[in-house]
Amino acid sequence: MSKKKLVFSGVQPTGNLHLGNYLGALKNFVSLQKEMNCIYCVVDLHAMTTFQKPQALKDNVLETVASFLATGLDPNKSIIFKQSAVPGHTELAWILNCVSRIGWLNRMTQFKDKAGSDKEKASVGLYIYPNLMAADILLYKATHVPVGADQKQHLELSRDIAQKFNNDFDCKDFFPLPQPLIPKNVSRVMSLRDGTKKMSKSEDSDYSRINLKDTADEISKKVKKAKSDSEEIPDNLKILEKKPEALNLLNIYSEISKENLEKVLNEMSGKEYSFLKMKLTELLISEITPVGKEIKKLLSDRAHLEQILKKGKEKANIIAEENLKIVREKVGLI
Ligand code: TRP
Repeated sequence: MSKKKLVFSGVQPTGNLHLGNYLGALKNFVSLQKEMNCIYCVVDLHAMTTFQKPQALKDNVLETVASFLATGLDPNKSIIFKQSAVPGHTELAWILNCVSRIGWLNRMTQFKDKAGSDKEKASVGLYIYPNLMAADILLYKATHVPVGADQKQHLELSRDIAQKFNNDFDCKDFFPLPQPLIPKNVSRVMSLRDGTKKMSKSEDSDYSRINLKDTADEISKKVKKAKSDSEEIPDNLKILEKKPEALNLLNIYSEISKENLEKVLNEMSGKEYSFLKMKLTELLISEITPVGKEIKKLLSDRAHLEQILKKGKEKANIIAEENLKIVREKVGLI
């Protein structure tokens, strides 16, 4: 295994993972695991920046781990663990809180979106969330970070923090500047009800998303109800790009069938959307329902999932402590 490249990514345990998480993150994690050392973290401390019911938070951590495993992550190849189990994350986050600048955080668009109109009422945790994310990555000196396009700005902040730390403490190249790995086609799987919005767990209608645990019947109903377009499928990308719902369905089809979008358009142009939907339903059922079944099976043995997290924590903690010791020395804490 190459020592130089190290992948780190985090997934928030906020319940039901959906097709967007699957295509945009999990599948990518699995393919990276074949080539590089990878660390995948269930970021429960990030989730609690907006209120979570305690029992739901616990359950959702296990559900996220089950989804990792059901998609093909292998705990013998990758380190899989829970963020709060490794205390180094919060310790480094504090140190980085003192490196990061208020002006930098004020530019974060995700805070503005998530805090909504009354920013005074957002938690302080939500505001400094990007500093904790930088700590997650830098704690392991990760070099590559697979994330969705919406996390690009946070990753740039992590680079700025790493660079300022290296300058302030006179240790050029100590923290590597982490590179984002953003999947090209599917960085955005959109809502089935509104092609301009990301597929998301927080959208009210369950018809807006395909959950990994959906049954064949549910998938079929959701695809049938998905918004498409009143005209037939166009023959070129320019026209398609003006029709976000149609583009989204074809994008999903292209991703799962592993054919590029142009080829899919060649096959489908002139046809009705009902034809595309029929094909898409078949593909989704054969790809997603086995994953959902596996998740449910894994969730029936919580002790097994806890054991995987425990082993992962032990491995993560060794790397974290090694790096933190040097950080503590550099900043003058020891
Ligand atoms: N903020 C990320 C998201 O919501 C989750 C995350 C936390 C993360 N820490 C990370 C992603 C470190 C990559 C690396 O998607």
